Amino acid sequence: MVSLKTNLCGIELDNPLIPASGTFGFGYEFAQIYDINCLGTFSFKGTTKEPRFGNPTPRIAECERGMINSVGLQNPGVDKVIEQELPKLRKCFFKPVMANVSGFSVEDYVYTCERLDKMDNIGWFEVNVSCPNVHGGGMSFGTSPEAAAEVTRAVKAVTTKPVIVKLSPNVTDIVSIAKACEEAGADGISLINTLLGMRIDLKTKKPVVANKMGGFSGPAIKPVALRMVYQVYDAVKIPIVGGGGVSTAEDVIEMMLAGASAVEVGAANLVDPYACKKIIEDLPRVMEKYNITNLKDIIGGAH
Ligand code: FUM
Repeated sequence: MVSLKTNLCGIELDNPLIPASGTFGFGYEFAQIYDINCLGTFSFKGTTKEPRFGNPTPRIAECERGMINSVGLQNPGVDKVIEQELPKLRKCFFKPVMANVSGFSVEDYVYTCERLDKMDNIGWFEVNVSCPNVHGGGMSFGTSPEAAAEVTRAVKAVTTKPVIVKLSPNVTDIVSIAKACEEAGADGISLINTLLGMRIDLKTKKPVVANKMGGFSGPAIKPVALRMVYQVYDAVKIPIVGGGGVSTAEDVIEMMLAGASAVEVGAANLVDPYACKKIIEDLPRVMEKYNITNLKDIIGGAH
């Protein structure tokens, strides 16, 4: 009998699977096709202080072994998330959920996190300082250790729940940013968000997405994600949520060996909405194949 259990910042998860923000909405849409309580948890759509319509279309470009998105943090704003989305979720998901929060100023992050902190079905914050698709916010906080630390410190001051900071891979030194967040009080690090990329349409000779560039995700980025999880595991003591190109049970195990306590699945949900459920069901078979009894025991095992 194998155990899939893991622990994320003091909260026990039945398994390490976490659908990544932006690929699972606010959960209840997926609850219409399967019981989402089989998940470890999920990270809901990046929420901002004000509602956002998002970027102009087209926002998606297909790529080999991945995709580019430039959604632009489309979301109904924190008030509607509290009034409409979380009550709907409460009826179909009985575990703590991860609140992904974005902002355009430190005050934005503080406002949104302070409001969401009062919601009893929120277990963790995933503070997103890594969205590549907006100007004057998002990734600009996650590409400097000082700015990432400032957001972390400010959010920690107004929240009671674990704060996990989601980092951008579009930097030269991920370790310095992770360490700055840890020193500022972060309870965990989530990585990686998407890699800034683009595609050009040969017929129009113009960029495929209206915003010209977007975030590249999918199986092609897994080696980059693994490398960053591995490096950050060596440098910090707080738990890591690893993600980037994960689409199989084998990928989950690889990510945990690199140092992840829990694993996010993103683009794979857009290919197959049952992806996370299938991975959870397949994990015992793959664990037995590689003589793993407890998933918890393999965290950081590759070091
Ligand atoms: O554009 C988006 O909504 C993506 C957000 C993210 O990558 O964090």
